[in-house]
Amino acid sequence: MMKEIIAIKEFTQFKSRAEEFSPYAWCKQMLENDPVSYHEGTNTWNVFKYEDVKRVLSDYKYFTSERQRTTISVGTDSKEGSAPEKIKITEADPPVHRKRRSLLAAAFTPRSLQNWEPRIQEIADELVEQMGTDKEIDIVQSLASPLPIIVMSDLMGVPSKDRLLFKKWVDILFLPFDKEKQEKVNEMKQVAAREYYEYLYPIVVQKRLHPADDIISDLLKAEVDGETFTDDEVVRTTMLILGAGVETTSHLLANTFYSLLYDDNKVYEELRNNLDLVPQAVEEMLRYRFNLTKLDRTVKEDNDLLGVDLKKGDVVVAWMSAANMDEEMFEDAFTLNIHRPNNKKHLAFGNGPHFCLGAPLARLEAKIALTTFLEKYSHIESVDSFQLEKNLTDSATGQTLTSLPLMAFSKH
Ligand code: HEM
Repeated sequence: MMKEIIAIKEFTQFKSRAEEFSPYAWCKQMLENDPVSYHEGTNTWNVFKYEDVKRVLSDYKYFTSERQRTTISVGTDSKEGSAPEKIKITEADPPVHRKRRSLLAAAFTPRSLQNWEPRIQEIADELVEQMGTDKEIDIVQSLASPLPIIVMSDLMGVPSKDRLLFKKWVDILFLPFDKEKQEKVNEMKQVAAREYYEYLYPIVVQKRLHPADDIISDLLKAEVDGETFTDDEVVRTTMLILGAGVETTSHLLANTFYSLLYDDNKVYEELRNNLDLVPQAVEEMLRYRFNLTKLDRTVKEDNDLLGVDLKKGDVVVAWMSAANMDEEMFEDAFTLNIHRPNNKKHLAFGNGPHFCLGAPLARLEAKIALTTFLEKYSHIESVDSFQLEKNLTDSATGQTLTSLPLMAFSKH
């Protein structure tokens, strides 16, 4: 059964895509004037302050991930397109969640990450190599969009010739919820899920016979309390991993370049002069720019933990975007500051038992992509004709850049 998708746009009422892409004024207003807000149209509670958002995300005794209504729509309701029961980690609370997460974590160990680093570097080198110098580059099309999907298909052990096919399916599978076109989009997703499934199943069967150093082989070996994956479950699990890890990371990369061009154009030079600052710059981009802006939980037991009477079954939307701008947590929160000592405390990767399993991978991809770019180009400039509003599109994460032109110069 597909869950009821909450059309949260009815609550936010952004006037333009650009406003949704950079909702600083909205976050400020909600934090200051309406930090725990009930919205009748969507029948949701909305919370904005850092401590409240953290609590809603982590306190599973009162705020459950088992839900009938949600703001997030990914994948499809067909058999091929839905995650197997034993891996539905985003929809379970501890203790069930622990086992599901452990099974999936088999593919995300620190050792895997270490092995993956040179492979990610090779992919970043290849993409940056293809970009010219002293000319206009579309950083979304040439780096932010292709890198995460190529990395994921490579880490899964999919032949590189099939990367484009992969990208096509993933783009469709994770199209955002659209009330008007819901039926059509769902149909497209079901076709993509079937094609994806039929493509990957024989690869999984082969990998069971001949394991290699990749995510699919790790999942086939995974065992927790005697529980293992069937071939069918592995195929469907890869879909969950792609859904969680591709668009989000593309978005982070695109946002990072946007920020370097438009939020503070002095940061690029600073990073170029000291590449050791890249990881903390990535962290500040995760805090300051808008990634997955919100998550929802359902009230499990009546409570007043947020200062209002919440009833069992109420939906609470936790806005990480606003929490990351909470002045009580981050000094001068509305300013980009890569030297901020506590920026790693941002909630862009969630909090509590569901904290993003792919966070180390996303951080690594961003660090490698940005460093590789910085090593090649001495400076970048924005392009005057660029119009933000025309280069945004709806996505599961909010508004995503479809293209971002910049002038890239090498040292002469
Ligand atoms: C910048 C990139 C990313 C962002 C902003 C992001 C954000 C998040 C957030 C906010 C959650 C918490 C969900 C919840 O509490 O219900 C989450 C969970 C998760 N993420 Fe990420 N993510 C990113 C990249 C990735 C990558 C690269 C992967 C894997 C390849 C991944 C895999 C997962 C998984 C499997 C979960 C579910 C964890 C659980 O429910 O226990 N993510 N992510």
